[in-house]
Amino acid sequence: MKKFLAILLATIMILGICSVASAEPKTYKVGVSIYQFTDNFMTLYRNEIEAYFKTLETDDVKYEIIMADGKNDMAEQTNQVQNFITQGVDVIILNLVQTSSADTLIDMIVDAEIPLVLINREPLAYDADGNTIDEAYEGILNNAKVCYVGADARQSGTFQGQMVVDLDNHGDLNGDGKISYIMIEGDPENIDAQYRTEFSVKCLTDAGYEVECLDDQVGNWDQTKGQELCANALAKYGDKIEVVFCNNDGMALGAATAIQTAGRKVGEDIYLLGVDALPEAIDLIRDGDMTGTVLNDHIGQSHAAVDVAVKLLNGEEIQNYYWVDYVMVNKAYVEAM
Ligand code: GAL
Repeated sequence: MKKFLAILLATIMILGICSVASAEPKTYKVGVSIYQFTDNFMTLYRNEIEAYFKTLETDDVKYEIIMADGKNDMAEQTNQVQNFITQGVDVIILNLVQTSSADTLIDMIVDAEIPLVLINREPLAYDADGNTIDEAYEGILNNAKVCYVGADARQSGTFQGQMVVDLDNHGDLNGDGKISYIMIEGDPENIDAQYRTEFSVKCLTDAGYEVECLDDQVGNWDQTKGQELCANALAKYGDKIEVVFCNNDGMALGAATAIQTAGRKVGEDIYLLGVDALPEAIDLIRDGDMTGTVLNDHIGQSHAAVDVAVKLLNGEEIQNYYWVDYVMVNKAYVEAM
């Protein structure tokens, strides 16, 4: 009897220890590499990735986020991904520095059998002559555990153009029958920059308006650069400039400063458009110092990216592409917010 009691006690203790052990939460390691921490929009995006992962934690499941700054340097980012692999992360969320390096990184990650969620910078498909084509990327399509989460930049460009079309004078302030604009572009390798540049103007010409491009420069998404380029263009073309299109709000914030410094007034003698709907841009629109922007939904995109990463962690099937809509943000929209 004593022996039986001793065995019973031992069994209960072992079960107790086991149940304590099984109460330990499962911690998933998530490697996130952002192309550049200093980018205004990607800062909102990456903070929301971390915040949203936190909300999904339970007593049983935790997420350890390893957030790395690609410093706009492809070699640096390749090293980071290599480190993620060595550290044995369970999933990777990747905002590429260069989409032209997509294959190299996708192959590295797929070979290491780690699921991958690409965000914000869509890898491009090319035809035999090296021209980009509007097709899904094979490196994504051919892999069941690789996907892209983003927004269709054509939509954001079209919305920028539409806000000019919607003005009473359709952007033709001096009444000479054409809309004279300058374009301040983001990183030219980025499809967002290419499509916003193309589709903002296409929207005007599709609506039957004549356009004149006075200047088209690369500001690489950067506020200081946006200010400098806009100031130079204002000095050179003066009153001829009716519309300033910026591929993002970062550069539009810089352009807004240049416009004020030049003594011009948005809504009266010039129009200014951006993309992203940064809080600072919303404030400018409210105050009448910017004509409009387009919401690049960092909440929707970051949540979609995290949700699909969690699906991958749970071994669930995923789609290869996830799209989040842009939203037009003009003064009426801001006033109704
Ligand atoms: C764009 C965004 C830009 C910049 C860029 C980085 O979608 O509008 O502000 O963040 O992504 O790839």
